[in-house]
Amino acid sequence: MNIQKNISLKSYNTFGIHVNAKRFVSIDALYNLQQLLKKEQQLFLISGGSNMLLTKDIEELVVHLNLKGISIDREHENAVHLTVNAGENWHEFVLWCIQQDYGGLENLSLIPGNVGTCPIQNIGAYGVEVKDTITKVKALEISSGKLITFSNADCEFGYRNSIFKNKVKGKYIITAVSFQLTKNVHKLNTSYGAIENELLQKNNTTPSIKDISNAVIAIRQSKLPDPKEIGNSGSFFKNPVISTALFEKLKNEYPKIPSYPISEEKIKVPAGWLIEQSGFKGKRFGEYGVHEKQALVLVNYGNASGKDIHKLAQTIQKTIKEKFAIDLEIEVNVI
Ligand code: EPU
Repeated sequence: MNIQKNISLKSYNTFGIHVNAKRFVSIDALYNLQQLLKKEQQLFLISGGSNMLLTKDIEELVVHLNLKGISIDREHENAVHLTVNAGENWHEFVLWCIQQDYGGLENLSLIPGNVGTCPIQNIGAYGVEVKDTITKVKALEISSGKLITFSNADCEFGYRNSIFKNKVKGKYIITAVSFQLTKNVHKLNTSYGAIENELLQKNNTTPSIKDISNAVIAIRQSKLPDPKEIGNSGSFFKNPVISTALFEKLKNEYPKIPSYPISEEKIKVPAGWLIEQSGFKGKRFGEYGVHEKQALVLVNYGNASGKDIHKLAQTIQKTIKEKFAIDLEIEVNVI
């Protein structure tokens, strides 16, 4: 194991923020990770680095999780069970599934990050959440070095949420994720407005999983910045859930406010809309700003610091609170 000193983490996080890692190690075998845990337990884990905002240098040993490999556990006529190691790139895995005609993940095309982190925030897009296909999550317990298997129910999945963000936060290292996907007969999810429109434009009434993936890729590319070109971490905030009473009040003032009902008492409103209404969309402050096509995404144009972006996020939160009486919650992990 090669522990390197003073490494910049700029190329290891999709925001492209430079902070210094005092010590850094890249791990590509489970055995090496288990050996490492016997000696060191104060670790800072980094995988795809797609859901974090780094605001300071990292004092702990930075462990870059680079475990690769996909294995097919079993197959039936209409289902396949796969186990994928944590360091596989998410989008490359989705494309590989589509190539094999394995269905279920096509709506989650082009989401940045690695497979190992997909359960943590239960990634979701265009009407699908990854929890619907996950069967098991394998993780190493940091304190004991033991490999533990979490069932889908054990993961306590919710909207952008799981046990790994709550009860057991910081206690485990996810090493592999198992999925159950469809074969031959797929359950397509095209109900999301933007996908419907994209397919309609192509006169496609019998889409394949590849067509859906292509539609999602086109939608995301038209709205979301490519982290390789402009540093970002996708949705910076969660879509807030508010009371129907507050929603009715806001609707009087803003008749066009979009909404998704959750229950009789609760309604979800898009954070992107609230931020746009507050005048932040497309605003640039030197090296950082709010994306011009999707106000939910904060961006680093090159040399912003994590502190700058965090400050902007706090200004947005304060403005939304004053204007709409809504608390915006940050989705990415601020370190
Ligand atoms: N909207 C605006 N202005 C904006 C952005 C959005 O008015 O700048 C309005 C749109 O017009 C639309 C509504 O907000 O009425 C919802 O917008 P959109 O469909 O783009 O989705 P979103 O709620 O902004 C969520 C996820 C995305 C995911 C999309 C598609 C969260 C926090 N974000 O965004 O996830 O791709 O739905 O399913 O739930 C991510 O997590 O990184 C991410 C991109």
